[in-house]
Amino acid sequence: MRILVCGGAGFIGSRFVERRLGSTDDSMIVLDRLTYAGGRDNLEAVEADQSLAPRLRFVEGDICDAETVARLVADADAVVNVAAETHVDRSILDPAAALRTNVVGVHALLEAVRTAPALPDGRRRRYLQVSTDEVYGPCEGDPHRETDALAPRSPYAASKAAGDLFTLAAHETHDLDVVITRGANTYGRRQHPEKLVPLFITNAIDGQPLPLYGDGQQRRDWIFVDDHADAISTVLDGGEAGSIYNIPAGHERANVEVTRAILDHLGRPWSLVRRVEDRPGHDRRYAMAGERIASLGWSPATAFDDGIRSTVDWYREHEAWWRQRRDRAWDDYYEQQYGRRLATATTG
Ligand code: DAU
Repeated sequence: MRILVCGGAGFIGSRFVERRLGSTDDSMIVLDRLTYAGGRDNLEAVEADQSLAPRLRFVEGDICDAETVARLVADADAVVNVAAETHVDRSILDPAAALRTNVVGVHALLEAVRTAPALPDGRRRRYLQVSTDEVYGPCEGDPHRETDALAPRSPYAASKAAGDLFTLAAHETHDLDVVITRGANTYGRRQHPEKLVPLFITNAIDGQPLPLYGDGQQRRDWIFVDDHADAISTVLDGGEAGSIYNIPAGHERANVEVTRAILDHLGRPWSLVRRVEDRPGHDRRYAMAGERIASLGWSPATAFDDGIRSTVDWYREHEAWWRQRRDRAWDDYYEQQYGRRLATATTG
């Protein structure tokens, strides 16, 4: 299969590329805008591997650019869209960026799939949209099922929900072969330090405060990036057209527990934790049911403790990678997001 991976130089995308190329004969084109969250260095391991590199081509570009996208989609049997503005806090500061990539970008890709020349032998070109549990909004009772109504509460979640709806509409209206995955909170190597797990690991390594929002009792289901990447592959190969697949891990933890696990593995004290003003509209809990993807033969393979330990080790061993991302623009973002919060924080 020839796969166009949009956002393949990002966190989940680059791991998907690595694991899929390593386990199949597929070839891939990665299209990536290389925003602050992506990086050419995320593909270095693949490009240095002689058995993988010849099957990978990299194109720097934007999923909103209809011409580029049309050209690349025409050469692909399938499109996997991992490209997104993914950070809730940034979407609160700048909702327009989420709207552009997560909605207009998805629309541009769907249009390219709809209008692309037909594949030989009547084969259909598959479009896989990588989405999130956040589209359901907070979970107050039983874990969310794929048939549940959407109730997004942040600009980020609203933009992802809109992307999902455009994707489903393309199936209903134009009979496109689409599938959607909705992943839980993902952590692992190469995640930008803006997110909870890498932020707390890298701050703790530097002896800097860990800004825990509100009471720290918000609950998330934590999935290791390798498991998430493999789940995307499973749905790409076996998902039913027009269907949605939740990707839960079954490792629900409160943020205080995640923080404790990180500090324990690093051997750093709890006194680094600061209780800071909460994220506005902060969802208390996400939880999803996973029977549908289980029926395709996928289940998560990584225990939470093992995943956290290997992630902590990776950041310890790749300081240059994350220090490079904590640049001048990072300092500005950090000040805007945490400056006042940390100045008015209370201790752990
Ligand atoms: O649930 C899937 C989603 O997980 C993905 O769709 C998003 O792209 C991804 O960013 C993530 O969203 P969250 O908002 O849950 O992730 P984040 O790492 O920002 O925050 C995780 C939890 O930790 C959340 O309850 C907020 C809290 N938090 C986060 C940061 C960055 C803190 O307490 N302090 C922080 O500084």
